[in-house]
Amino acid sequence: MTRATLAATPPPSWTPDQPIVRLADVHKSFGSFEVLKGISFNVRKGEVVCIIGPSGSGKSTLIRCVNALVPVSAGSIQVEGIDVTDPRLDKLALRRKVGMVFQQYNLFPHKTALQNVMMAPIHVLGQDRREVEARARILLAKVRLAGKEDAYPGELSGGQQQRVAIARSLAMRPDVMLFDEVTAALDPETVKEVLVTIRELAEEGMTCMLVTHEMNFARDVADHIYFTDRGVIVEHGPPATFFASAQDERTRRFLSQVL
Ligand SMILES: Nc1ncnc2c1ncn2[C@@H]1O[C@H](COP(=O)(O)OP(=O)(O)O)[C@@H](O)[C@H]1O
Ligand SMILES: [Mg+2]
Repeated sequence: MTRATLAATPPPSWTPDQPIVRLADVHKSFGSFEVLKGISFNVRKGEVVCIIGPSGSGKSTLIRCVNALVPVSAGSIQVEGIDVTDPRLDKLALRRKVGMVFQQYNLFPHKTALQNVMMAPIHVLGQDRREVEARARILLAKVRLAGKEDAYPGELSGGQQQRVAIARSLAMRPDVMLFDEVTAALDPETVKEVLVTIRELAEEGMTCMLVTHEMNFARDVADHIYFTDRGVIVEHGPPATFFASAQDERTRRFLSQVL
């Protein structure tokens, strides 16, 4: 193969009727410790998938593999036909497709809410400042923070900061959003406003993969639930089936502790 063909972008083989995220036999080890032991599932466009399971079962690792924050040890992950596990992966191309929100929102403390939302499109994508600002204002209104544009993170509640973080992620216009226990560090009274924001996104058709301990929310918003334990998917199904008739002893034990 010539150098030119090696460097060429493969023709886009993905079409919207195919799964937007494909995980095939994903393994991940840290040293000799295998955290993910063969995870396979697909996420279709517009689908909301919740990943639940005990602490340490590999949920965060899995979700971080999807946007290449953690390299897999074996198996493959594709997002809209982009091979996330390809060592030649164009990470910027992936960042434009996959947004991620973490438990720690990590906003820039010296930047206002508006400036936080504007940063990546301007500095990473080089987009026009005025257009970015107009869109950032719309996004802040969408996460119900109209009027807080000029507030600094320290002036906002945890739930408000987390919604800024969601708007910041949406500013890259992703096709898939990953949420990793985004309400776990919040005061109880601000959890709901963040869940409402995520639900609205889901209802608008955003494809979402979320790790959550909020079982009522998962039941309410998910199209499909995956229960992980020690690096494998023990059981999965649509919420109605999953919560009503979990079969595996590990799932039942977990649900009895959290419900
Ligand atoms: N960077 C890392 N290096 C070593 N071990 C890690 C690393 N990240 C996670 N682990 C380990 O992998 C296991 C799964 O972690 P994690 O994916 O965070 O689980 P969960 O999100 O389900 O609580 C844990 O035992 C954790 O200590
Ligand atoms: Mg985790």
